[in-house]
Amino acid sequence: MSRRWVKSDLPPPFLKRLSFLEERVQADEFPFNIPAFQRGKLVLDFERPITIIVGENGTGKSSLLEGIADLCGFNLSGGNRNHVYSSDLSQATIGHALRGSWLPKVTRGFFLRAESFFNFGHYVDALPPDSTCPNPRVPYGGKSLHEQSHGESFLNLFTHKFRDEAIYVLDEPEAALSPKRQLQFLKLMRLLELEGSSQFIIATHSPILMAYPRAQLLMFDGRVIREASLSETPHYQLTRNFVMNPKAMMDELFAEVDAELADD
Ligand SMILES: Nc1ncnc2c1ncn2[C@@H]1O[C@H](COP(=O)(O)OP(=O)(O)OP(=O)(O)O)[C@@H](O)[C@H]1O
Ligand SMILES: [Mg+2]
Repeated sequence: MSRRWVKSDLPPPFLKRLSFLEERVQADEFPFNIPAFQRGKLVLDFERPITIIVGENGTGKSSLLEGIADLCGFNLSGGNRNHVYSSDLSQATIGHALRGSWLPKVTRGFFLRAESFFNFGHYVDALPPDSTCPNPRVPYGGKSLHEQSHGESFLNLFTHKFRDEAIYVLDEPEAALSPKRQLQFLKLMRLLELEGSSQFIIATHSPILMAYPRAQLLMFDGRVIREASLSETPHYQLTRNFVMNPKAMMDELFAEVDAELADD
C-alpha cells in the first residue's frame, strides 16, 4: 500500500495527560455528574500510541471521548476542525474543563462517532471541489459514503483518510464492522503505529479491538478509570465463556427468564 504521511520528530502519544481544571467543574451537572468524573478525580496519563477505553454501557466512555474531541477542536458531530456542519447531537461536554498536556500539540485528526457517521456522509457529499482536491470524495474512498455499506464506508475512511501526525478519537469503530473487518482494522492501526505518526484513543465493546498488543487499556470501574489487562475485562470474560459453550450460557439465561416468569 503506498502512503504519504507527515512523520513527527517526536513519537506518539502526542496527548500525554488529561486532567480537570477543577474551577471549571460543575459537579452536579451532566456530564460532570458521571461517577468517574467527580471533582478532582480525573487524571489520565496516555502512555502508548494506542489507548483503548472500556467499560459497561452508560459508564461515561462517549462523554470522555466527546470531551477529548472538544479539547482537540474537532467537530463534535464527527470529523475534525475543518469539518464545519452540525447535527442534533447534544454538545454539552467536559472539554472546557479539561487540561491537555501535549508534545507536540497536534491539530490534525478525526473524531468518529458511529451514530452520526450518516450526517458526516451528507457533509462529504455536499463538499464543493477545489484546486487542492478536485474530487472531495477521494479521501473517503472515491465515492459517496452513502453509496457504500456501513462497514465499507468506515473502512474506507480508515484506509484513505487516516495519516499524518494526528490524533484519532474513535467511539465504537467496531459498530459497523464484521469480526473479519475488525481484524482488517487492526492491521490498518498496526500500519499507522509502525509509521509512528498517529495516536488513537478508542472506546470499544469489542474484545477483538481490545486485544491490540501493547495498547494501553483503561477501564471505567465504578468511580475510577483504571488500567486493566484484556483478561480482566468483563467483555473478554463473557465472550470467552460464551464462545466456549454457547448452549450452557443460553440455558442459564433462559432458566433466569423461566424463574422470573414463575415469580410473577
Ligand atoms: N445528554 C445527556 N444528558 C444527561 N445525561 C446523559 C446525557 N447523555 C448521556 N447521559 C448519561 O451519562 C452517562 C454516560 O453516558 P455515555 O454515553 O458517556 O456512556 P457510554 O459509556 O458511552 O455508554 P455506551 O457503552 O452505551 O455507549 C449515562 O448514564 C447516560 O445516561
Ligand atoms: Mg458510548
